[in-house]
Amino acid sequence: MQLTFLVFLGSARSSTPPYPARLGLRVARACVAQLGATGAEVQLVDPLDYELTPVFKPHFVYPRGEAPAALDQLAGRIATADGYVMVSPEYNHSMSPALGHLLNHFGSSLIAFKPSAIVTYSAGQWGGTRAAVGMRTFLAELGCLPVSAMIHIPKAQEVLDETGSCQAGQDVQAWTGYFGRTLAQLEWWAAAARDGRAARDPQARSPAFRRRVSERDAPPPPE
Ligand SMILES: Cc1cc2nc3c(=O)[nH]c(=O)nc-3n(C[C@H](O)[C@H](O)[C@H](O)COP(=O)(O)O)c2cc1C
Repeated sequence: MQLTFLVFLGSARSSTPPYPARLGLRVARACVAQLGATGAEVQLVDPLDYELTPVFKPHFVYPRGEAPAALDQLAGRIATADGYVMVSPEYNHSMSPALGHLLNHFGSSLIAFKPSAIVTYSAGQWGGTRAAVGMRTFLAELGCLPVSAMIHIPKAQEVLDETGSCQAGQDVQAWTGYFGRTLAQLEWWAAAARDGRAARDPQARSPAFRRRVSERDAPPPPE
């Protein structure tokens, strides 16, 4: 059966410099194309499509049926997807606030027990590697464990054009192979996790957190 993936784009930046703005769109498009070529259904999630309120109100705090329609629709897409590609620029050596803010709107019960792939980029020479380190922790806490291989793209504006294809002069085969290793791991884990979820409900013995922060606590010391 066909696998479904969401590619989260972690940039909502419209201002320049630095040029170009939303370099991440190229990176996300490259991921959509390469993952789509495997036969999977791949959907781009663009933070600009979601008008998030200035006061932070996550999807999971609304009574059923009262969340904004766009958030509800994205919650449904997250719940039915088999895996996720998280595309982030490096801002001040950290993952993109736009990506973190969007993901913070959703409970881990929607996204857990499925794999993710970390894809970072920058306009400079480090390719977002420092952002990637923190992303492992963030995504592990959400329960969409990142696969071991990662994609880092230094000087992404020189590597990819606006459609997400390699710029002239780039080694297309090398870049395809580099993307392919991480995306193949994602596919493998997504298929394995889907089979596993079908065989045994993962939340039967590890139920989703509900209301109280203390649900995460170790037992208190005896009185
Ligand atoms: C607020 C801000 C912080 C940045 N911090 C870093 C950084 O820590 N390391 C880096 O390599 N590039 C950094 N950059 C440059 C980005 O790599 C570059 O602007 C890239 O295009 C950002 O992706 P975007 O255009 O998709 O938003 C920063 C850019 C901005 C706007």
